[in-house]
Amino acid sequence: MQPNPSAFAHRWLAGTGEKTLLLLHGTGGDENDLIPLGQTLDPAASLLSVRGRVDENGSNRFFRRIAEGVFDLENMREETDSLAAFVSQAAAKYGFDLDQLYAAGFSNGANMAASLMLRHPEALRGAFLMRAMVPFEPSSPPALTGTRVLITSGESDPLVTRGQAERLANILREGGAEVEHLWVHAGHNLARGELVEAKRWFGGLAPG
Ligand code: MLT
Repeated sequence: MQPNPSAFAHRWLAGTGEKTLLLLHGTGGDENDLIPLGQTLDPAASLLSVRGRVDENGSNRFFRRIAEGVFDLENMREETDSLAAFVSQAAAKYGFDLDQLYAAGFSNGANMAASLMLRHPEALRGAFLMRAMVPFEPSSPPALTGTRVLITSGESDPLVTRGQAERLANILREGGAEVEHLWVHAGHNLARGELVEAKRWFGGLAPG
């Protein structure tokens, strides 16, 4: 199926800096959820916050799943390609620089950001992935030299195993990405202090 980028509900908040954050919520969330997080990470960044368009019993997601942690890979491919196309269209419409685009995603949104990096390695300059797992195993390492990634994983996350989180970090590293992987005292939900680390990481990225 051809990607159909036209219909992603989203919010755009223009910032004063060069960077743009692509915000991707978790299952059951929407485009409003991560706006405060984006504003905390970088008060000067522009924010493009997108709503996943798969409906799972009334919950928004970025791609379908067959069961917990078992993904519909064809739907993931289509939605990933559509999101990549949407982001390019949004850059033209809102006038932001794709070379200064970073994703911040939580849970299902982190998995979508990881899928975007694996399928479209040029799409993002970097990403902050909260509670991400391996969206799919790529057939060859993605070309991610120059891409910066922060992964934060919960030590007692019942949904994402240690092996899954570490495998994702290694896939990204094998592709040349510079990955920082932090383990936090938490489950699947975010921990206090985690955003302090993320803000430090984000502040250390090359100025826009
Ligand atoms: C997913 O489905 O992407 C992950 O299992 C995380 C979740 O949304 O529960």
